[in-house]
Amino acid sequence: MEYERPLFFRVMQYAARADRDVVGMVSGNPDWEPPAALREGLAEYAEADIEAFQYPPSEGLTKLRAEIAQRRGVDIEQVVVTNGAGEANYLAMAAALDRNSGDELLLTDPVYPYYPGKTELLGGTERYVPVAEDGQLDPATVREHASEDTAAILVNTPNNPTGAVYDEATMRELVAIAEDNDALLLSDEVYDHFDYSGRFASALGVDSEHRIVTNSFSKSMAITGFRVGYAVFPEALVDDAKTRHMLVNVAGSQPAQRAVLTALQETGPDYYADNRDLMAERVETFTAALDDAGAEYTTPDGGFYVLARFDDFPGTLDNVERLIDEAGVAGMPGDAFGSAREDWLRFALVTPRVEEAADRLAEYFR
Ligand SMILES: Cc1ncc(COP(=O)(O)O)c(C=O)c1O
Repeated sequence: MEYERPLFFRVMQYAARADRDVVGMVSGNPDWEPPAALREGLAEYAEADIEAFQYPPSEGLTKLRAEIAQRRGVDIEQVVVTNGAGEANYLAMAAALDRNSGDELLLTDPVYPYYPGKTELLGGTERYVPVAEDGQLDPATVREHASEDTAAILVNTPNNPTGAVYDEATMRELVAIAEDNDALLLSDEVYDHFDYSGRFASALGVDSEHRIVTNSFSKSMAITGFRVGYAVFPEALVDDAKTRHMLVNVAGSQPAQRAVLTALQETGPDYYADNRDLMAERVETFTAALDDAGAEYTTPDGGFYVLARFDDFPGTLDNVERLIDEAGVAGMPGDAFGSAREDWLRFALVTPRVEEAADRLAEYFR
């Protein structure tokens, strides 16, 4: 069995080796400061007693789980702190397949490439549901694709790569479809703080034994390197998830969890609102410049990414490498995100150089 490795690191390495200045728009690494309290939490930890340097509880620091549970309106027992949303998604998908109620995972096309990779790793089968041109997911289409073979419906809102945000009615119906097919709705909400539409609705708003929500501090606190995320499980599934987490990891990182806890407790809403506004401005700047470049694009309602299409320039890895060498802009090939956006390129707006990048694109394609 050969697993498919997502292309992100490969493209970033290619860009780093290029013989010219390149604006990097490949990965979703935020380029802004974490909350000030996060640095304070880390500094405090450096001076802590040695017992603080030992294993934390496997399912996460109790105070951190309590803080998450209180904010999300769930029972602390449902919360598992994970090694980022990456692990949270893995545990959620494993929980769905372990129920022995189907081996299919319904994924959207376009898709975040780690989902099919993990599906295969876990011995499941992926089945793709198409989305509308603007990235919206029609629950009626999901229902047509769901069956007794469905273990889970896996969605991401705000979406990577389309930028779509699913509203409350959509989330409610997705949970209902999961219930009707004895499956789970898995909702990956890592970009929840970056909703520009005001329509974002967490699946936690729909009470059900058939949904798992995953999230992370990677994006909301600009700390993708800390590796702290979490999943909220239904009561019946949480013990097995904790065991799997323990067998794979022993435990998570104590310094990272402590710093996140301090930051959660001491950071007000302005921090999150300012970063969301910064991203919303970049969306405007970048898409205005894409207009000048004559590109077709989707304006994201949330998240970090813009999909763009240029005439006669399909979104292949070869073309992405050409764009790095010849235009000095690094994006991701659309064909890395399933088959629906093979002609497109994905640009991450987590760089202060979005305008410069768009100008370079305009110059290149003009
Ligand atoms: C949709 C989605 N889920 C999960 C992740 C991974 O998040 P984490 O850093 O918390 O593992 C990313 C990172 O880009 C993402 O885009």
